[in-house]
Amino acid sequence: MSDNQNSAGGKEREQHIHRAEGGSRNPYQNPDGGVTTTGHVWDDDLADFTNQPPKWWMLGLAASAIWVVVYWLYYPSIPVPTSNTFFKGVGGWTAIKEMEADKGEVDAVRGKYEAKLKGMTPAAILADNDLTEYVKRSGKVLFGDNCAPCHGTNGVGTKDKEGLFAPVLNDDDWLYGGKIDDIYTSISGGRQGIMLAHHPSERELIELEHLEKLGQAGAEAHNIALGLTPHQIDVVAKYVLALSEGKGDSPEVAAGKLVFINSDCVGCHGQDGKGMQAMGSANLTDKIWRFDGSLEGIKYTITYGVNSGDPKARVAVMPNFTEAGKLSDTDIKKLAVYVYKFGGGQADAPAVPPPVAAAPAAPAVKKK
Ligand code: HEC
Ligand code: HEC
Repeated sequence: MSDNQNSAGGKEREQHIHRAEGGSRNPYQNPDGGVTTTGHVWDDDLADFTNQPPKWWMLGLAASAIWVVVYWLYYPSIPVPTSNTFFKGVGGWTAIKEMEADKGEVDAVRGKYEAKLKGMTPAAILADNDLTEYVKRSGKVLFGDNCAPCHGTNGVGTKDKEGLFAPVLNDDDWLYGGKIDDIYTSISGGRQGIMLAHHPSERELIELEHLEKLGQAGAEAHNIALGLTPHQIDVVAKYVLALSEGKGDSPEVAAGKLVFINSDCVGCHGQDGKGMQAMGSANLTDKIWRFDGSLEGIKYTITYGVNSGDPKARVAVMPNFTEAGKLSDTDIKKLAVYVYKFGGGQADAPAVPPPVAAAPAAPAVKKK
């Protein structure tokens, strides 16, 4: 310790002594310096001064005491019993009233949008930027509550061991169509693609294998209502896999192609295998698989079908939200616009056909 500090401490003590001399005569005086203390001494020489707290602090204390009483009287505080009820505060405040006032404010803002939406088609909403922005925001909550458990946040899809549990909604691949009205119909009416099982019963199998022995012609001409033999399922699945890789015409899968064309597949998936959106029959020519897209997975789909009633069938049910009464028509319109705006929505064909080009169009650049 330096001399300096010592002398500073000495000065401080002098000041205390000075103050004590000018102040009251307290019986508890520190013999050492005469400073007024409370008289308690700890650890040999620690004592409390009796200085008053500052004035501003005392005023603050009094003000907060008054504040507590006023607050306590104004708001329902402690439920003191009064005649046949309890003290509810003189201000008449309740949490419900406050919430309703807030809600009124929000409704006033929303009201003008909601009133407009009621009378509009989803396509008209989409054409109005202001409304679309509004709908995207309220659609987010509706989607999170009703759709995300199956379709995933932002429509990324969810998977189970059979493949996609519910389809991806934020891409431009659609089972039932990506136009705004198609999306609206998917949500309002629900969807349930049906593909029958193709495995024959035991009796039918005997019949089919007999036909197969008669040769290719017999197998082709068989009554498809009987189903397909395991061999036919195997070759047609290989054909479907090849289709998805753009190799549908390769000679290795010619047998499968024959089965595809001669059985019921074309009725639903089309001659070209591209599917039909009216019935949600998947496009088989792309690499986007709704269910397990391995050879085994494809064989399974063909064997047991989708929503076919077979106990082993794949299940794909988009619930009917109108019937369930869970969503209003306006809610469904909002959701249609919200889903459309994930980015995969497809524009309606223009109402007026574009003028016929005078010169032959340049060969189109093939887009991915
Ligand atoms: C119980 C799970 C489930 C819930 C909940 C659900 N979906 Fe679906 N959704 C499906 C399934 C499964 C399909 C596919 C049906 C099929 O394959 O035939 C589907 C299909 C769709 C399609 C058609 C997709 C296409 O490719 O054409 C749209 C659009 C859609 N859902 C939107 C919604 C919206 C919006 C909600 C919320 C209101 C919702 N879904 C709630 C399971 C669900
Ligand atoms: C009655 C109409 C119908 C017939 C007949 C039919 N399908 Fe389908 N198929 C569908 C529908 C609908 C789906 C999509 C189911 C869904 O996602 O809800 C589907 C899905 C599939 C899938 C799964 C696609 C994916 O993305 O996972 C394969 C593979 C398939 N079909 C192959 C065939 C083959 C091969 C045949 C002929 C042996 C056939 N289908 C006959 C309606 C049919």
